[in-house]
Amino acid sequence: MPHTQSRRLAKVQTPIIPIVSRWIAQTPGTVSLGQGVVSYGPPQEAVEALHGFPASPSDHRYGAVEGEAPLVAAIEGKLLVENGIDVSGVSRVVVTAGGNLAFMNAILAVTDPGDEVVLQVPYYFNHEMAVEMAGARVVPVRTDADCQLDLTAIEAAITPRTRAIVTVSPNNPTGAVYPAVALRGVNALCKARGIFHIHDEVYEYFTYDRTPHFSPGSIPGAAAHTISMYSFSKAYGLASWRMGYMVIPEGLWEAVNKIQDTLLVCPPVVSQHVALAALRVGRSYCAPHVARLDGMRTLMAAALSQSGVPCDVPTARGAFYYFVKVHSSLDAMTLTERLIREHRVAVIPGTAFGASQGCHIRVSYGALDAQTAQEGVSRLVQGLRELTR
Ligand SMILES: Cc1ncc(COP(=O)(O)O)c(C=O)c1O
Repeated sequence: MPHTQSRRLAKVQTPIIPIVSRWIAQTPGTVSLGQGVVSYGPPQEAVEALHGFPASPSDHRYGAVEGEAPLVAAIEGKLLVENGIDVSGVSRVVVTAGGNLAFMNAILAVTDPGDEVVLQVPYYFNHEMAVEMAGARVVPVRTDADCQLDLTAIEAAITPRTRAIVTVSPNNPTGAVYPAVALRGVNALCKARGIFHIHDEVYEYFTYDRTPHFSPGSIPGAAAHTISMYSFSKAYGLASWRMGYMVIPEGLWEAVNKIQDTLLVCPPVVSQHVALAALRVGRSYCAPHVARLDGMRTLMAAALSQSGVPCDVPTARGAFYYFVKVHSSLDAMTLTERLIREHRVAVIPGTAFGASQGCHIRVSYGALDAQTAQEGVSRLVQGLRELTR
């Protein structure tokens, strides 16, 4: 078969968001509880920073592979103050085109084909896709009934081929926030077994009920085996600008330099300009939005927990998702399509996140105002009642 895609890519799941988006487009008036985006845009200061760009011909040339020095310096300051991560000497910051590229950089840097990467199930689908694309193997480990880490199961999954354990907190798709003690456990395990701890914190500002956020990169002695990743997409409403960053052990820089030089050459300079202005505004920008989202979270949980709604809703104190277990014999893909076509409400099927046992759906409330959220969840409740009858 000369003109077919590689076997490696053939094994990678088809992106789910475009599939769901097509069903939504075919069903006018659908309320989307689907894609994980926020409703708001960037701070005004970030938009205004564009007026000073391009200032000179050099703004149109390639920039540094690791990102522009002023942005890297500002990120280093933020990491020290907010995350307790001191990069001086042992680690370094690399600006990337979003958290997704940070993850791809990490996987390509630490795995050889056939190596294993432990993902918690349900996982963020692009993490699974990246591991498969790199020719490495996903080792899925189920989280517990409350979507929390199961350290014993993680340890049992380690083999001589394991190169990394991945954690995401606050979590997509479950909204779970892992306590410091659990993340310390994973990090210590990685240190003891000579493997990397890859930790995704792109939802670091999105926690509720005063739930603290913890960065394992801040643990003394963690720098040499911890890769932490962040994003401007959610906190600052900058998804289309493709801006994120990672903290890597100094020893991985040579590899990441090769990868990012090849995939990206440099992070888009104009986006870095905007991101720097956003970072100068700081996390206070997103605080009122998080407070508003908390209201949406409560509204969603209240509606889905009413008696007679055929589902279980695990605790979610972070991000802007619920990962709902539906009491249905339908497969999640069929349920999702029917919810859209028959009830005009969109969710994401749990199978995309590796949840193969039972029927799960991810419900996202990041992009909604209160009225739309109410309408969306009412349709969802009615749809679940009718479709599981
Ligand atoms: C857990 C997680 N990591 C990374 C990303 C990617 O974000 P970015 O837009 O920075 O690539 C997302 C986006 O939904 C996410 O949910």
